[in-house]
Amino acid sequence: TNERTLAMIKPCTSGRAAEVIAEIEAAGFVVCAKKEHQMSVPQASEFYAEHDGKEFFKGLVDFMTSGPVVALLLEKPNAIKEWRALMGPTATSKAKEEAPDSLRAKYGTDNTKNATHGSDSFVSAAREAAFWFGGPVLAAEKTLA
Ligand code: CMP
Repeated sequence: TNERTLAMIKPCTSGRAAEVIAEIEAAGFVVCAKKEHQMSVPQASEFYAEHDGKEFFKGLVDFMTSGPVVALLLEKPNAIKEWRALMGPTATSKAKEEAPDSLRAKYGTDNTKNATHGSDSFVSAAREAAFWFGGPVLAAEKTLA
């Protein structure tokens, strides 16, 4: 059964969004919805609220508001796990070492500018999809499936 997850192409990489989306589709994901938007500081702080207080939080918010983000609602069987596998490890240096074919290895530049984001659980995917696309997008789909 199909599952959905929320992806973002971050400001460091959104200029190459078409290229990244082609790789995402080649990996078998369907792009169900897409939105390009430059987040405000309050929006980025809300999206990443779970990291508030960490030493990298301000740098993360500064970076995520520095240019447009392309948010994607992706669908595929096991999408949450599959999308995290396609992205590779969070830290670009680790991605380059351990998963050289991953998107973060190919497009990331450092441990903050790591090219893409992906929800880490169904609960996160539901919250993050609602943040970008409004309403209980995933819950509705679960009921229909
Ligand atoms: P993401 O998957 O979007 O989730 C939180 C983000 O914070 C992460 O990708 C990185 O962009 C950033 N991040 C996580 N850990 C660190 C870190 N140790 N130093 C700098 N940035 C980090």
